[in-house]
Amino acid sequence: MAVLITGIGELTTNDPALGRLTEAALVVEGDRVAWVGPAAQAPDADERVDVEGRAVLPGWVDSHTHLVFAGDRTAEFEARMAGKPYTAGGIAITVGATREASDEQLAANLRRHVDEAARQGTTCLETKTGYGLTVADEARSARIAGEVADEVTFLGAHLVPPGADAESYVDLVCGEMLDAVAGSVRWADVFCETGAFDEAQSARVLKAAAERGLGLRVHGNQLGEGPGVRLAVELGAASVDHCTYLSDADVEALAASETVATLLPACDLSTRQPLAPARRLLDAGATVALASNANPGSSYTTSMAFCVATAVLQMRMTIEEAVWAATAGGAKALRRTDVGVLRPGSRADVHVLDAPSVTHLAYRPGVPLTRAVWRAGVRVAG
Ligand code: NIG
Repeated sequence: MAVLITGIGELTTNDPALGRLTEAALVVEGDRVAWVGPAAQAPDADERVDVEGRAVLPGWVDSHTHLVFAGDRTAEFEARMAGKPYTAGGIAITVGATREASDEQLAANLRRHVDEAARQGTTCLETKTGYGLTVADEARSARIAGEVADEVTFLGAHLVPPGADAESYVDLVCGEMLDAVAGSVRWADVFCETGAFDEAQSARVLKAAAERGLGLRVHGNQLGEGPGVRLAVELGAASVDHCTYLSDADVEALAASETVATLLPACDLSTRQPLAPARRLLDAGATVALASNANPGSSYTTSMAFCVATAVLQMRMTIEEAVWAATAGGAKALRRTDVGVLRPGSRADVHVLDAPSVTHLAYRPGVPLTRAVWRAGVRVAG
């Protein structure tokens, strides 16, 4: 069955050959885009949807979330707003609640947040383990994540569990834990930060994961300058996430690499950190992605539109850069070519805004502008 979406006032394709089109149309056939072009030349289809001059763009690609969790950290957030600093230690609260939850509770909570994101235009979502921190709890988190999310990352190296010896825990992560999850995940990640894992421990985890064929991601430079970015670049990670505190050498290394700098503005705001230096990165030639970092501790939002608006209003990204970073940039951070773009053959992840242009995402911050969403050709909102 083919669906013609026509009357598109502004179509962001993210395909360099197609560019941004006006008075456009696209055809969805099955789970793919079959045709993109001027509305006047659109082919026939089984069904026709007229979006009456609205803007259309690829669905958001949210390349960084932590949504396999249970429990709540409102009290920690309130304390932070009263001046208490964010530290890695808060993760342990969610670990306790997650271990106590049943598989059904974890799956339902994950599904609820993924659906919430989809209603706001997110059509491709990565999520992580990292609130289990035992072999059994990490393995079940990976399995549950794989049933719901597009991309799954193993983050056994999120925190040394309270009471555990750090080196013995890294041994466990690099051995039995990786063996238990390797079949259910595509990526491995490490929280390389003061209070979590140091450079040597992070390198051990990443190398062990690479030996098992997993792609690499790094949480780095979130709470201060450190070795995270350098390590990610040296080991060929697909993405280094946070990048809030960067030295000039970090920026240069990213600009000269294939590693995407994934910025998490909602997290920077919620943890009262400075916003990541997007302009320095872009002006140096680094590839930048934007993601929500949805998690109950440092960034409890699934709104990619909020991240885009913040990136434009406060991080001085242009609207084009921010929209690209939250769609094609996320896809690049996940090393995918089928999402974050609308061209013949791409996945039919279509986001219709209740606005005539993507500029309204920043011009009207906080206004829910998602009008309709198709994910892999299935209408999931609107
Ligand atoms: O990306 N930085 C490490 N992990 C998460 C925070 C998780 C938490 O506080 O529960 C992050 O911000």
